[in-house]
Amino acid sequence: MVSQFPSSLYLPFQESSSELAQYVRLFRAFQQAIIKGNLAPGAKLPASRALCAELGISRNTVKTAYEMLHAEGYVETRHGAGSFVATNLPLDTVGQKEDQAQSQTQNPPKLSAMAQTLVGVRKPNQMKKGELLLPAQPCINSFPWSQWQRAVAGAGRQMKYQQNSVMGNNQLREQIASYLRVVRGVKCSADQVMICSGSQQAMFLALKLLVNAGEPVITEDPGYQGIDGAIAAVGATKIPAQVDEQGIQLEDGLEKAPDARVVMLTPSRNHPLGHTLSLDRRLHVLQWAKRTGSWLIEDDYDSEFRFEQQPLTSLQGLGGQDVVIYTGTFSRILHPGIRLGYMVLPELLLEPANRAKTYMEGEHRFFHNLRWRNSWATVILPVMCDGCANSTTNVGKLCTV
Ligand SMILES: Cc1ncc(COP(=O)(O)O)c(C=O)c1O
Repeated sequence: MVSQFPSSLYLPFQESSSELAQYVRLFRAFQQAIIKGNLAPGAKLPASRALCAELGISRNTVKTAYEMLHAEGYVETRHGAGSFVATNLPLDTVGQKEDQAQSQTQNPPKLSAMAQTLVGVRKPNQMKKGELLLPAQPCINSFPWSQWQRAVAGAGRQMKYQQNSVMGNNQLREQIASYLRVVRGVKCSADQVMICSGSQQAMFLALKLLVNAGEPVITEDPGYQGIDGAIAAVGATKIPAQVDEQGIQLEDGLEKAPDARVVMLTPSRNHPLGHTLSLDRRLHVLQWAKRTGSWLIEDDYDSEFRFEQQPLTSLQGLGGQDVVIYTGTFSRILHPGIRLGYMVLPELLLEPANRAKTYMEGEHRFFHNLRWRNSWATVILPVMCDGCANSTTNVGKLCTV
């Protein structure tokens, strides 16, 4: 009689996806019942005739499922007596694993302090209920998909299995360096440019290199929330410093944390208010950083967009080569999903940064590099020159690269 078996055995069969053949669904229902211990070793399976009557399926379906169970060792047949759950299955181990998995969902695993801290931090660009706008998002509708697909396919065809530096593809780094020198006044060579997975990774890496757990990091208030997680991940303490029409007020941060030695700021355009750091304050933060041996992480996240005036020279280019880590991204002018960003490192940080990134993501990255080298020529430059249909871009400047 079928009724001797727990009805839960049949539920997965009845409810499972009808895309699967019936015999597969029946096989899986028995398989799960055996693995989970709902059917104990040695238990008799229902006679195929009774089961097909109970479930309203054909006898062939049941027979095929039983044959599969037999072939995979879940079931043994005893001549003239029917099919039984195999007695030699290591079900204890399987059962234990299930129990463990269950108890892990009930009692969360013991995580490091960093992982636990991150649980409470809002993700970059995560919208709160009721928020309508997502600042710093490009007009992704205008992304040149067909050019992009051609570029990626072309890069795939040219792919050579060679090892590239963890700093990124040299030609791309040269292009970026020359663009930054001309357009942003950044004083750098291609050697100082590190290609990153968005500027998010660049800022995370910079913090890892410069800040110890428990140390303060001054940030803009209001500012980009995506760095909260990066600051939390290194165990540092975020010290918000007020922003007004002239940009960040360093003194406000220093009053709260006089020993702070790292400041993260968006001098070109404060995120999200849009204020530009005035020349006075630029010179002030630079002097402070040099005098105290501190670091400035300059997040130049959308300096390509201009509405009224020419951009001010970057902090890095204003004499900050030794104290500024300059970060930039293609997320604004192309698409955040392509995860292409970069940072310009002071000479002294090159070796430590190189090592840190090597251990973070390994060294072999032929495709990534080729893709971007190719994309620079076929996608990025044309996009920069044409501009985004719905945006006001600094087209002329970008074309000078
Ligand atoms: C101010 C600011 N900085 C940095 C980033 C990170 O950009 P990405 O990691 O996409 O390059 C963002 C993203 O929205 C941002 O708004």
